Amino acid sequence: MMKQAFRASLFHCLGDPGPQADASAVEHIDDGVLVIEDGRVVAVGEAANVLPNLVEDTPVHDYRGKLIVPGLIDCHVHCPQVDIIASYGEQLLDWLNKYAYPAEMQFADAEHAREVADFFLGELLRNGTTTAAVFATVHPHSADALFAAAEARNMRLVGGKVLMDEHCPEELRDDPESGYADSRALIEKWHGKGRLGYAITPRFALTSSEAQLEAAGRLAAEYPDTWIHTHLAENQEEVDEIARQFAWSRSYLDVYDHFGLLRERSVFAHCLHLDAEDRDLMASKGGAGAFCPTSNLFLGSGMFDLRSMTAAGVRIGLATDVGGGTSMSMLRTMSEAYKVLHLQGQSLPASRALYLATLGAAEALYLDEHIGNFAPGKEADFIVLDTDASQITARRAAAAETLDELLFSLIFLGDDRNVAATYLCGERR
Ligand code: GUN
Ligand code: ZN
Repeated sequence: MMKQAFRASLFHCLGDPGPQADASAVEHIDDGVLVIEDGRVVAVGEAANVLPNLVEDTPVHDYRGKLIVPGLIDCHVHCPQVDIIASYGEQLLDWLNKYAYPAEMQFADAEHAREVADFFLGELLRNGTTTAAVFATVHPHSADALFAAAEARNMRLVGGKVLMDEHCPEELRDDPESGYADSRALIEKWHGKGRLGYAITPRFALTSSEAQLEAAGRLAAEYPDTWIHTHLAENQEEVDEIARQFAWSRSYLDVYDHFGLLRERSVFAHCLHLDAEDRDLMASKGGAGAFCPTSNLFLGSGMFDLRSMTAAGVRIGLATDVGGGTSMSMLRTMSEAYKVLHLQGQSLPASRALYLATLGAAEALYLDEHIGNFAPGKEADFIVLDTDASQITARRAAAAETLDELLFSLIFLGDDRNVAATYLCGERR
């Protein structure tokens, strides 16, 4: 593929701006050019410097007046739950029984699984999410449907078939042997194919027998570069139940650690009810937390303690957790993250919110050598944000005096209308 250039206001993170919005951790080029070739970033710079050096026939896409940022990354989301997003009234365990499990049962039908996967990925892209770590269902063909749909779009995706063999509806149970064998076959088929990666996906310790957790740990040891994707310490009732079910454990995280499920590329959704020992253990083993603010508020689960998690050195990425989460939009997710932290006396400047959905999320998923910012050589996943796409964002942006102010307002007021274009490896989707 030939060289292409994109002219716009450019913004990306070079590191974690932290709670004080460290300006040296970001790069903003007001009249910038992003140059890509063969789907990868070649250079970013000032238009005045870059444009004269482009060979004459290089196409320059003119997005002046708009803002280009790296593609957004959703560290934890459930494909089958798009159909029950925003379902009334329950906290986690009742919500699973009443809404999530029935929706997942419908995935016994492979055609349904394909239809939902197509809708789901389309919706992610419309919202500017270019990479996601995704739960399918217990059915192996649900993971096939997801991977095939991602492959067709050349989308970077980490996904897996759910492992669950007890304390859930009969129709959604696998068993330790079949779960192991089916996951293994899916790893062989999809892991490392193009931009796809496999996540060994025990739903949570409540719905897996010790034999299944042990089998998952064995698989993780056999395939050390796969991901492990699960839920951790989301809801107090859940945490209490774990303590009963695994009476020998020191903590919920200790259960996963015991079975070899805490390591680099382990991603734990929620992490609300952890102690200092858990946080230190997670950091030392290289596990990551997925911060799911809309879900934590919607399901009444609790408030994520970003300050303690980052102080302990845990990798953190933002996530929607749809359908426990209430929006596919990472902009909406960032704005709810701000509120959750504000309630706890913690701050979240716009640049750090974006970091948690781009470079920080890429680091949490161990994908930062491929994605997360515009460093030369990275895959050219980016989005074009347009403040003029809705009246309120246009009006607020016109009054903004700094890029920080503009970005902050877009995080709160923007939605999928403001995502004017989504590019995967330099190709518009
Ligand atoms: N814990 C176990 N399964 C789920 C799920 O589907 N959603 C959420 N939010 N938490 C879970
Ligand atoms: Zn979840």
